[in-house]
Amino acid sequence: MTPETELEQLLAARYSCRAFRPDPVPDQLVDRLFATAQRTPSWCNTQPWQVHLLGGEATARFAKELGEHVVAHEQVADLGLPAYEGIHADRRREAGYGLYSALGIAREDRAARSDQMARNFSFFGAPHCAVVTTGRDLGTYGAVDCGGYVNTLMLGAQALGLGVIAQGAVAMYSDFVRGWLDLPEDRLVVCAVSFGYADENDPVNAFRTTRADLGDVLHRLDG
Ligand SMILES: Cc1cc2nc3c(=O)[nH]c(=O)nc-3n(C[C@H](O)[C@H](O)[C@H](O)COP(=O)(O)O)c2cc1C
Repeated sequence: MTPETELEQLLAARYSCRAFRPDPVPDQLVDRLFATAQRTPSWCNTQPWQVHLLGGEATARFAKELGEHVVAHEQVADLGLPAYEGIHADRRREAGYGLYSALGIAREDRAARSDQMARNFSFFGAPHCAVVTTGRDLGTYGAVDCGGYVNTLMLGAQALGLGVIAQGAVAMYSDFVRGWLDLPEDRLVVCAVSFGYADENDPVNAFRTTRADLGDVLHRLDG
């Protein structure tokens, strides 16, 4: 049997980080992370991702103004709002309740759940927030390629010892994000990826999700 690969180890150890220390990541490490993510494959090598990377005061300003926007406006998502039904709704619920339970939040405590949700808009305290956009003309496959990019970015961050989380929540206010970043009309907001150094002492970072059994997702046709 082949020994466990580094990728297997990374995937086994990774999790979505929801509490960060304020310390910024040194520029050299940030450059290295984004240079690594550039290796992501894409259809016809179109590389549809563009990244607006916020750090320092820009992160704080974006968090403040996005937070103010969210409480007073409806969601407008460039890629549409997902509908969760059946098994997808079940998995979403399990992950959500697991997270709240790790934080000692009761299921019926709507206020505490909503406070935790609102932490998305301060990027859980991360010092860096990368907004990933795709080209409108590339349609669904442009977004698929950006999904691959986001995954490389997250694994790259993990490999460099950083905490990281993808945030679709930010894309639920695409109109605000477009205005704030002065994005041209031909760019669509896919999600944000916030990163920094994980706060290992925060109980939220002890929470781990499960995965479906292989038999539920892999459909083999042999012969
Ligand atoms: C594209 C994408 C968007 C996500 N958006 C959010 C988000 O807005 N807020 C959040 O707390 N987690 C978000 N997540 C994290 C997922 O909830 C998480 O990946 C999933 O529950 C599996 O848990 P794990 O990452 O800890 O393995 C997102 C993940 C992905 C891949």
